[in-house]
Amino acid sequence: MARAHAPEAPAAPTLAAAGHGGAIEPVYVWDLIVRLTHWAIVLSMIVLVFTGVDIARPFLHGASGKAGFTTGYVRIIHFYAAMVFSLAVFARVIWMFLGPRRSGWRQFVPVSRRRQRDLIGTFLFYIMLRPTPPPAIGHNALAGLTYVAVFGLYVVMILTGFAMYSVSAYTSYMSSWQVLLPLFHGAQGARWLHHVVMWLLLGFVVHHVASALLTSRVEKNGTLDSIFSGYKFLPRDRKPDDE
Ligand code: HEM
Ligand code: HEM
Repeated sequence: MARAHAPEAPAAPTLAAAGHGGAIEPVYVWDLIVRLTHWAIVLSMIVLVFTGVDIARPFLHGASGKAGFTTGYVRIIHFYAAMVFSLAVFARVIWMFLGPRRSGWRQFVPVSRRRQRDLIGTFLFYIMLRPTPPPAIGHNALAGLTYVAVFGLYVVMILTGFAMYSVSAYTSYMSSWQVLLPLFHGAQGARWLHHVVMWLLLGFVVHHVASALLTSRVEKNGTLDSIFSGYKFLPRDRKPDDE
């Protein structure tokens, strides 16, 4: 298993600020690969949504009303962003099997008894039937399971995208992605799915940012900052990771 090199820990907030009775300490939870792939996916998705909506219904014509080659450039930008997106998703999936424990697939699939119990506890917290969520060091059980679905949606975007790309790739080797077309009942089916899944992903993003803000506020452990710095602030007497 690879060992992540942790950067210097930021100064811990005061105990009063963190809202914990006992002592707290900085804990390195997200290594560089997890953070880099997260932000590469976020930034490329912003470009993909903007350019994708223009491909579906062009609005970037300018005042003259003449389209020129605008949509052509928009498609090129979409394809470059698509490469960044696909490579970042691919790298993150590989890292789930080669990276350190807290980046691993067990953070996503609830195979342990404790994660299965925490799944229900976290759900009760989200629907306000529990005042605090079960404590978690890495992803909480419900967030982890949601990310499995999100990575599934990423894969659908990549497969439908490459299937559509193959249609205009003519004689280049990229035309070999045509093998994917029957999976989606042709290019039009791929296009429909590509478009619908974009809206599902955008729905997730709204919920994701809202719940990152909520858990950060309630748990007062720096969850929101952790995806930038890599560190959360956790009680010294916390339970160890569930493996
Ligand atoms: C989250 C990521 C992505 C989003 C949000 C997104 C969004 C979109 C949208 C909204 C469209 C227009 C569909 C329509 O006509 O109704 C589109 C078209 C397209 N996308 Fe994506 N896309 C993403 C990733 C990808 C990837 C990874 C590829 C891989 C090459 C790709 C390739 C394409 C192609 C080939 C088209 C059709 C272009 C055309 O017909 O001119 N997209 N995308
Ligand atoms: C396109 C937008 C976004 C998408 C698709 C997205 C998706 C994800 C995914 C899949 C993970 C799991 C990371 C992994 O283990 O590889 C994650 C973690 C995380 N994201 Fe995002 N994210 C987005 C935007 C944001 C933004 C804008 C913020 C904060 C301002 C944010 C905060 C976080 C935090 C704090 C975590 C780690 C904590 C946890 O949920 O377990 N994300 N995100």
